Amino acid sequence: MNKMITDEIKKRRTFAIISHPDAGKTTLTEKFLLYGGAINQAGSVKGKATAKHAVSDWMDIEKERGISVTSSVLQFEFGGCCINILDTPGHQDFSEDTYRTLMAADSAVMVIDASKGVEAQTRKLFKVCAMRHIPIFTFINKMDREARDTFDLLDEIEKELGIPTCPVNWPIGSGKEFAGVYDREKGVIDLFEDTMKGTRMGTMKEVALDAPDVTSYVSEDALDVLKEEIELLDGASAEFDQSEVDAGKLSPVFFGSALMNFGVETFLNYFLAMTTPPLPRMSDQGIIDPAEEEEFSAFVFKIQANMNKAHRDRIAFMRICSGKFEAGMDAFHVQGGKKVRLAQPQQMMASERKMIEEAYAGDIIGIFDPGIFSIGDTLTTSDKKFAFEGIPTFAPEHFARVRQVNTMKRKQFIKGINQIAQEGAIQIFQEFNTGMEEIIVGVVGTLQFDVLKYRLNHEYNVEIIMEGLPYEYIRWIENPDIDLDKLKGTSDMKKIKDLKGRPLLLFINSWSIGMTLERNEGLELAEFGRA
Ligand code: G4P
Repeated sequence: MNKMITDEIKKRRTFAIISHPDAGKTTLTEKFLLYGGAINQAGSVKGKATAKHAVSDWMDIEKERGISVTSSVLQFEFGGCCINILDTPGHQDFSEDTYRTLMAADSAVMVIDASKGVEAQTRKLFKVCAMRHIPIFTFINKMDREARDTFDLLDEIEKELGIPTCPVNWPIGSGKEFAGVYDREKGVIDLFEDTMKGTRMGTMKEVALDAPDVTSYVSEDALDVLKEEIELLDGASAEFDQSEVDAGKLSPVFFGSALMNFGVETFLNYFLAMTTPPLPRMSDQGIIDPAEEEEFSAFVFKIQANMNKAHRDRIAFMRICSGKFEAGMDAFHVQGGKKVRLAQPQQMMASERKMIEEAYAGDIIGIFDPGIFSIGDTLTTSDKKFAFEGIPTFAPEHFARVRQVNTMKRKQFIKGINQIAQEGAIQIFQEFNTGMEEIIVGVVGTLQFDVLKYRLNHEYNVEIIMEGLPYEYIRWIENPDIDLDKLKGTSDMKKIKDLKGRPLLLFINSWSIGMTLERNEGLELAEFGRA
């Protein structure tokens, strides 16, 4: 293999940050970028409504609401690594794209608010990462505020998410009493210093736990508590084991304050040492390992429509899985069965989109898509023409029945809704025994309903009426030859099918799922739709 290419690939660290809104994902990302020199001053990527907004003015909804429907990847260099942070849309723009972005990551950083613990959105995103068995690192944030008991927090992560934790450092107090963190490996205390909300970098001061002058930095009471807690911890917590971390079976935990810029650099250093360079991926011809496969290969994980209003173009975001990409190169589009030119490659850097000339396994690129790509498609220059394992369909949580206002526009309606579904912005379903007259739309985040309505109106000139449905849970039936008429369901259950004709069940209550399983021996229900 070409050494220059393997060296570039080995440097790559591609990860996503998963968190519940307000836990501090944006603030932490900003501090990462600060270390990478990608921004000069903390805070300059902050304005969610300004910086990101300037990048993507492709849809008026974004402007009206000051949010970003699009997402990007931030690339910077730090500690000899080339880091790609995948931006997972959160807040109101939480959508299936958020989940799909996780399919492009090699590891995840889970940010938890120390006063809140594990929250709903973290739980959902964690499940997707756990399904892929990728390494998951935990950053417990906002230690400068009153935090919950540390043992309780770790207990909650283990119980709720089912992953054992291994604290790499340990907090000394929290809120006004926050004195710093104890590094368990080095046996030193990193002292907390108020950096005026991170406007100053802060000086990293550390003192050994057994240093004679330690009490001039940390009160005796706090030291007593710390020593007691460490003793308890040494007896109770899992030992650090890199192979368990690699397998996603153990989460190293760090404490800090993103806002105060405390513990961020320490985290970054440990994280880069413990996380993984680009991982191998499964294909229909076996595992494709970037360390062995020389040829370029990538898969599409996200498609974004009409970024440029003047043209009806789409951008296909792909994750490179092996080899080197060069602008304008030809690659075989496996699902389309054709060679295509990869034109206008773009990468999102901090707050601007820029054209790129080359990229390597681990990187994310956006390619001009004349409407030929679908989510999960493979591109490669390898003669083997392998196809990567597809991306599963994630369970929508909101459903609505959709009709067009003017029945004369039937054709445009069907075309539009199908195209938007193909891009993966929505999922469409049908009643079990009828045709396309009534379509049920499922979305992961409710903003997608507005996007659908807006796009059908503006791009296809079709007005629609949407009627919300009370269902919140969807399950794919895994049994191949099931007789649905014989299925003993619950009163709140509804049978539907997807575009491939696969049977699905909708439920209003989560307990109905268990009930249905109980009533039908051998029934297998899945939360993710097979690719
Ligand atoms: P998100 O992307 O996960 O949604 O969270 P974001 O970083 O936007 O942070 C949410 C709020 O929490 C922000 O406050 C932010 O300043 C604050 N925050 C983040 N990290 C820390 C921390 O370590 N300590 C403390 N005390 N606060 C933190 P806000 O008031 O909503 O916004 P702003 O007025 O500060 O911009």
